[in-house]
Amino acid sequence: MYCYRKVRDDIYWVGGNDRRLAMFEGIYSVPDGVSYNSYLVLDDKTVLFDTVDRAVSEVFFDNLNALLGTRALDYLVVQHMEPDHSATIARVLEKHPETKVVCSRMALGMIKQFFDTDITARTEIVAEGSTLSSGKHEFVFVTAPMVHWPEVIVTYDKTDKILFSADAFGTFGALNGALFADEVDFYNDYTSEARRYYTNIVGKYGQQVQALLKKASGLDIQMICPLHGFVHRSDLGKFIELYDKWSSYTPEVNGVMIAYASVYGNTANAADILACELRERGIKTTVFDVSVTPASDIVSEAFRYSHLVFASTTYNTGIFIAMEDLLRDIAQHNLSNRTIAIIENGSWSPSSGKQMKAILEPLPGMRFIENTVTIKSALNTVTRAGIAEIADELAKSVKAQ
Ligand code: FEO
Repeated sequence: MYCYRKVRDDIYWVGGNDRRLAMFEGIYSVPDGVSYNSYLVLDDKTVLFDTVDRAVSEVFFDNLNALLGTRALDYLVVQHMEPDHSATIARVLEKHPETKVVCSRMALGMIKQFFDTDITARTEIVAEGSTLSSGKHEFVFVTAPMVHWPEVIVTYDKTDKILFSADAFGTFGALNGALFADEVDFYNDYTSEARRYYTNIVGKYGQQVQALLKKASGLDIQMICPLHGFVHRSDLGKFIELYDKWSSYTPEVNGVMIAYASVYGNTANAADILACELRERGIKTTVFDVSVTPASDIVSEAFRYSHLVFASTTYNTGIFIAMEDLLRDIAQHNLSNRTIAIIENGSWSPSSGKQMKAILEPLPGMRFIENTVTIKSALNTVTRAGIAEIADELAKSVKAQ
């Protein structure tokens, strides 16, 4: 049975919520689910903006059928070809042989790849600045390569001043009946899921997001309709400001995030002591055990904090596995401009510190606290003092920012 919501006048949300998905993209935990948004415009011509993941296809087609009735679906705008938005394209086109597809040239190639079918004859290729009129609405297409795939376009509705933003401005979490961010306490309850979504999904492509923000700054935007999470129609500046920070790798918190890997608790002890020493010096801290907290949460917090500490035992002559995975994840997301301190542990040949540094060093704008604390099995008086020295250096650096 249909379950759609009105966005405004003749525009409807026709997506669905998935609360059974354990791992988004097979990597990112989504304990509160995820929404796949699709938008239908019922103007003189009807226009559908993207489709949905296969998981919510039943309610999506119910929504589409209920709203279209006997009307034709004139246009399907394909902004992004990742299957969480494109998996049902073939079914839409089968059900609606009258529909013309509007997409970038690269997206057309991907449609051929995903569905082994050539729809060139029923496709209108659009590029930067191309327009589409549905009657009352005048849509302008804006290319947004690598936000988050190369074929991506976003769409500006000049009539209602709405930005259909594809993956940009998305948030993890099912909508739970709400559609608009102002129907929930977005900035208290959902910012962390918006940040986790941004940093993990699009975080690598800060430069490309900055390019999109630059283009968007020239538009009068009164509403943002993303492909995941809430529609934003108030406090847009606040969300755009967060996006500007995230995509320019600017920390939100001047403080220290400590992530540790510990097999028998001695490295954990060092991490906790460092956190206490920092708090004694008036510095904000947060601490994560990489064996317990999912990497996507720690990556997100690493984007949030200005200073990062990684503490790991040496394991099979390398870095403890969960820590190595985290560091490679952070490196792959191109995190930049942070100050980093390293603590290593090892009972006979501690070497994780050097290896951790080697992963993070090539990232742009990374600065390292000169001292590395090397623990042999457990802290002693000398290494305990070394932790206090690192706390001094970190506190000085945090306060200097
Ligand atoms: Fe939500 Fe890049 O797809």
